[in-house]
Amino acid sequence: MGMKAKELVTRAGLDVNALISELNSAYCDEWLAYYQYWIGAKVAEGKMAHLVANELTEHAGEELEHAEKLAKRIIELGGTPAISPDLWLKESTCGFFAPKDPNALTLLKQNIQSERCAIEVYDKLLHMVQDKDPVTEHLVREILEDELEHEQDLEDLQCSCLGSDKKGCAK
Ligand SMILES: [Fe+2]
Ligand SMILES: [Fe+2]
Ligand SMILES: [Fe+2]
Repeated sequence: MGMKAKELVTRAGLDVNALISELNSAYCDEWLAYYQYWIGAKVAEGKMAHLVANELTEHAGEELEHAEKLAKRIIELGGTPAISPDLWLKESTCGFFAPKDPNALTLLKQNIQSERCAIEVYDKLLHMVQDKDPVTEHLVREILEDELEHEQDLEDLQCSCLGSDKKGCAK
């Protein structure tokens, strides 16, 4: 824990425990997102499965980086990142979609839904910390930017899979 880290956040009027709890929930989401992408990439089948698997693998790596960044900040603020996988589902906001149907299009749909949930999570976090905690704010902005890009990448792939133009299939 960084004594000053906690002090600055508290002085800015933030409840540090509430902040740690939100960050921990996002941390759990990230591990689930990581695994959802990772396992999805392994089992993907059907049209453009190879292309979809490559994108899912890339995103998996980025979700893990998000988890790392969140863990670092949680510890800095005096908290403990969820120490056991059984907490991931329990504390998560966005949950987990098991790729029971390995069809690449189904996987894309599931992951788009998860990304949209993640975007809402980070937008909420941003509102909580903006103009109060510049360090967490910076972190959340970086992650939010990635999640927005992830959503768009998957939407674009969905369009390619469907064989339609962008305009016609972006929903
Ligand atoms: Fe993420
Ligand atoms: Fe993402
Ligand atoms: Fe991507």
